[in-house]
Amino acid sequence: MANQDKVKELIEKRVQARLGGGEKRIEAQHEKGKLTARERIELLLDESSFEEFDMFVTHRCTNFGMENNKIMGDGIVTGHGTIDGRVVYVFAQDFTVFGGSLSETFANKICKVMDMAMKTGAPVIGLNDSGGARIQEGVTSLAGYAEIFQRNIMASGVIPQISAIFGPCAGGAVYSPALTDFVVMSKNTSYMFLTGPKVVKTVTGEVVTDEELGGAMVHGTKSGVAHFVADDEREGILLIRKLLSYLPQNNLEEAPLLPCTDPIDRLEDALNEIIPDNPNKPYDVKDVIHAITDMHEFMEVQRNFAPNIVTGFARFNGMSVGIVANQPAYLAGVLDINASRKAARFVRFCDAFNIPIVTLEDVPGFLPGTAQEYGGIIIHGAKLLFAYGEATVPKITVILRKAYGGAYCVMSSKHLRGDINYAWPTAEIAVMGPKGAIEVLENKNISQITDPEQRAGYIKKAEEEYKDQFANPYNAAKYGYIDDVIEPRNTRFRIIRALQTLATKKDTNPPKKHSNLPL
Ligand code: HXC
Repeated sequence: MANQDKVKELIEKRVQARLGGGEKRIEAQHEKGKLTARERIELLLDESSFEEFDMFVTHRCTNFGMENNKIMGDGIVTGHGTIDGRVVYVFAQDFTVFGGSLSETFANKICKVMDMAMKTGAPVIGLNDSGGARIQEGVTSLAGYAEIFQRNIMASGVIPQISAIFGPCAGGAVYSPALTDFVVMSKNTSYMFLTGPKVVKTVTGEVVTDEELGGAMVHGTKSGVAHFVADDEREGILLIRKLLSYLPQNNLEEAPLLPCTDPIDRLEDALNEIIPDNPNKPYDVKDVIHAITDMHEFMEVQRNFAPNIVTGFARFNGMSVGIVANQPAYLAGVLDINASRKAARFVRFCDAFNIPIVTLEDVPGFLPGTAQEYGGIIIHGAKLLFAYGEATVPKITVILRKAYGGAYCVMSSKHLRGDINYAWPTAEIAVMGPKGAIEVLENKNISQITDPEQRAGYIKKAEEEYKDQFANPYNAAKYGYIDDVIEPRNTRFRIIRALQTLATKKDTNPPKKHSNLPL
């Protein structure tokens, strides 16, 4: 073959490989409202930055006549490119080829980009759309999954790993995304479950649709498996690009410092009045967050799961931070099982990737009751406690209002190596709220008062006395547990100054193989 023909052959092969499962299947993909693997990569990466690996790989299966059915690339597009000029590794499952099912060689391609990402210290993004293990291959496809899982585990805490689910994701295949740091799902076109509706019906008799069992809304609100729910794939891809802007490339680097045009000493007068006089009245903690962050921006993580705690990324003077805030507008901001799990994982992510944590606290305590106790609130609450106590990144806490009981200890208190702990003048720091405290302390005296009016008056007076003594920040400040009581409107500036002071912070944990986190 003449050299010119060899070049022509290469070009033709590339054209062929780019077609994946062919025009018809691409059309079918579009009809379902889904993009192809290549379209997704194009949207995700900076223009013309994609460098593809292993375009000519084909499977090695000889079962069920598969030897006569080979498609270049084998159903997965892999390589690297840039997002905002920073290198990322990417793999995108191609549903048009054998339903995006995973073969031995398909898995090898994913493992190759994961290994490259680890060697070079760059994030990995997986775009999932697959029928699971390739049935014709049997155990080699299962082995392929396990090879990927092992790499997910080794990469955890070293490089950011992000998974988008843009189609089916069934069986053990869900475990690779579950091992990664963030899962993005698109509404109506993606689902994740261990066993599909047919198996559910056979085993339990329960009749359920794909969407009801494992759709984006289910995982975004009930299970907490999905961190972001996008209206469609395009929005999901933009979310990933934005998310990466808050993250470092790996655990040895800091997140990018962006130029900040928002004045660092911007006063927010409204914050001086945001806490209602009635302690039982809610307000939206997101109003506080938006008031203090650069350009009022906040990228919320797990927005609809356990909304009694708010987690997400923001910037202060261009510095990336993770924010954890109790949400008084939902269940009074109480800590329950899901809120503890959600915040613990977020704190651990931030700590692994050198992102300082700002905690805004207004928490009446842990949610009481049999449902929580039987569900193991003790162990789940301990996760959050453990995560804060183990974290060595800069930790800044602002107590806005309630900091009662164990929740005071847990929410990045001074005693868990909180670096700078502030309180607003509206803070109430005590073992419990006035009502509960007086019921315990004054029970004997109260029961001796028979006249209802007199009794109510006695309780009111006792509660007032308790409030004067404990429902303020000064009792804690007296012991140095609060570094300063700050004016609410000045919170942005005080946080920025604290972050600047802590920029050189160094803290470590004792040498160990790993901790025994209460799982
Ligand atoms: C081989 C597969 C496949 C698979 C789909 N296809 N899944 N080929 N192995 N696992 C092929 C189909 O035969 C079809 O080929 C094409 O992909 C598109 O599939 P359709 O069924 O036509 O598409 P759709 O109606 O959209 O349904 C998609 C689907 C369904 C819901 C994913 O295909 C399905 O249920 N597949 C099986 C899912 C599953 O049970 N996988 C195993 C899970 S267990 P043609 O040639 O007709 O276009 C697992 C173990 C992992 O993954 C363990 C890790 C620990």
